[in-house]
Amino acid sequence: MSADSIDNLLREDRRFPPSESFAAAAVATSALYESAATDRLGFWAEQSRNLLTWQKDFTQVLDWSGAPVAKWFADGELNVAYNCLDRHVEAGLGDRVAIHWEGEPGDTRTITYAQLTADVKRAANMLEALGVGDGDTVAIYLPNVPEAVIAMLAVARIGAIHSVVFGGFSAESLRSRIDDASAKLVITADGGWRKGKVSPLKPIVDGALALQKFDEHGNETPHTVEHVLVVRRGENDVDWTDGRDLWWHEQFATAASEHEARAFEAEHPLFILYTSGTTGKPKGILHTSGGYLTQVAFTHRNIFDLHPESDVFWCTADVGWITGHSYVVYGPLANGTTSVLYEGTPDTPHPGRWFEIIEKYGVSLFYTAPTAIRSFMKVGRQVADDFDLSSIRVLGSVGEPINPEAWIWYRDVVGGGSAPIVDTWWQTETGAIMISALPGITTTKPGSAQVPVPGISVEVLDEQGVTVLPGGGGLLSITEPWPSMLRGIWGDPERFRETYWSKFGTKYFAGDGARRDGDGDIWLLGRVDDVMNVSGHRLSTAEIESALVSHPIVAESAVVGAADETTGQAVVAFVVLRAEHAGGQSADEASVTLRTHVAQSIGAIARPRQVIIVEELPKTRSGKIMRRLLQDVAEGRAVGDTTTLADTSVMSIISAQLSG
Ligand code: WTA
Repeated sequence: MSADSIDNLLREDRRFPPSESFAAAAVATSALYESAATDRLGFWAEQSRNLLTWQKDFTQVLDWSGAPVAKWFADGELNVAYNCLDRHVEAGLGDRVAIHWEGEPGDTRTITYAQLTADVKRAANMLEALGVGDGDTVAIYLPNVPEAVIAMLAVARIGAIHSVVFGGFSAESLRSRIDDASAKLVITADGGWRKGKVSPLKPIVDGALALQKFDEHGNETPHTVEHVLVVRRGENDVDWTDGRDLWWHEQFATAASEHEARAFEAEHPLFILYTSGTTGKPKGILHTSGGYLTQVAFTHRNIFDLHPESDVFWCTADVGWITGHSYVVYGPLANGTTSVLYEGTPDTPHPGRWFEIIEKYGVSLFYTAPTAIRSFMKVGRQVADDFDLSSIRVLGSVGEPINPEAWIWYRDVVGGGSAPIVDTWWQTETGAIMISALPGITTTKPGSAQVPVPGISVEVLDEQGVTVLPGGGGLLSITEPWPSMLRGIWGDPERFRETYWSKFGTKYFAGDGARRDGDGDIWLLGRVDDVMNVSGHRLSTAEIESALVSHPIVAESAVVGAADETTGQAVVAFVVLRAEHAGGQSADEASVTLRTHVAQSIGAIARPRQVIIVEELPKTRSGKIMRRLLQDVAEGRAVGDTTTLADTSVMSIISAQLSG
């Protein structure tokens, strides 16, 4: 976050107490805080037993003896898919809608719990017939279509592990994720609808599997994929590799319909989800079953004030991100919720598309990212005002700090001036929401995520690990293990320790800066490491730099996240060209080439807003690039202290070049 916006935040003093009528019917009560404070583990045990159905009850709540790898409810057994599906049907809720699906072109599907259960059973049989079972990994590369949810739950049902890869990632990114997890099966679609046209996916899977990869001895390492299962959605032409590629609808039609949900241990792996870190290589964050499902179900119910018999919940995230895993799939389904799932972009075919969907399905609980709110602010409130949004009861925000102006706009325009806003802080690693207001209880403050969820212990620490007092700023840390915490980085226990546990010992280092105000409420101030947050998506500066230097014209590069009005941060790259290429292309041409190159190597979400060609990068005498100074330039500020640079004239040359 830029210094200006932090100053603005600190001056924010508007307060919004809950209305009496809302509080009277609220799901969450302050008793939650009290019971969690009295007996934290007993609290989580009670929540878990209340919210989930255990096939074998647990006797132990937390085992932290193997820290930093926690075990929750370790001797209990459950089936995650059964908890999301069959038990609701057994309870007589089979006719309740699970998913109102809306395709971008306007086609729709309404799927009840009975149908979804039947589909997942059949899909589970289909996967088993393909030789997928307990502990195997399955890569899922699909658009936001019901088959994505069905595939995830079918994988979970048979005790396999899914690794969902967001459909915007490139062939190279997909392949590295397939290889890292040794995926046996890839589930994809021919294509999905985005921005009014079909965006092909199967060709990217073909490209990923055709890439040649080598080990450190120069020997080719073949991929591990046996089959590619293809959902027909875009109806675009696709190439076919006989024996390897199979149509989902054909396999599905011949699969058996009955499938018994076997119980797995609470710590059975559920999924891997890759996220950006401070080095170039994405980390495979591992989540397991019982603790994860407990905390996503608990937070979803209490933070969104879920009344499952009457609410319609819509989380706009793509299933390819953690928000999609926890609040499109697992939390809502575990709670028997009716949800909306939308395939496309917010402004296709018209800028009011999301509002139209809220009106059409009577969405009452709405969860989105600040970047989306800011882009609606840009088009103006008349777009929203054309639709009836009176069904809205609770609004959620996630992914990046929400600036107070966007918060107020969200409440006024989308929330009719009264809906409580929950600003939810969490991460891929935390699995579920960790810091948030509770509607009906908390007096909200625009721009602050406020208080830890009941049963969660959070502190703001200084560099030495000492708790800062109210009024002070420092680093956010989670000081006690929590049920949905990550259980490791896939295949890399050393990196797991080093990244999260080397700074504060058994207290988790989150990588976010934070401040506590006089009331003790928490204000998030953005990442303190080399991770950027662009439109609520995490990107690593190192990963983009390594993509840039992989291009033959590039000698050196430095990437910074510059403050951006709409996307929060934007990728700005500074690049030094190789001498032999410097004459070949104009700076403008090189810049266009390199922006495209990054999009092709990582995915369109990583495409730099700007690639600035410079003669030299600012470095200290020990050769470290001073990104702070480049950030000043990228954000159009006066350049800060340059005295530690090896060559103090570099920054004035870069600044002059940009203004000239
Ligand atoms: C940021 C997304 C401020 C934060 C669920 C975190 C937030 C990173 C908020 C995780 C929020 C997420 N306020 N910052 N309410 N929510 N962040 O893994 O920097 O994609 O570390 O998980 O997003 O991003 P991730």
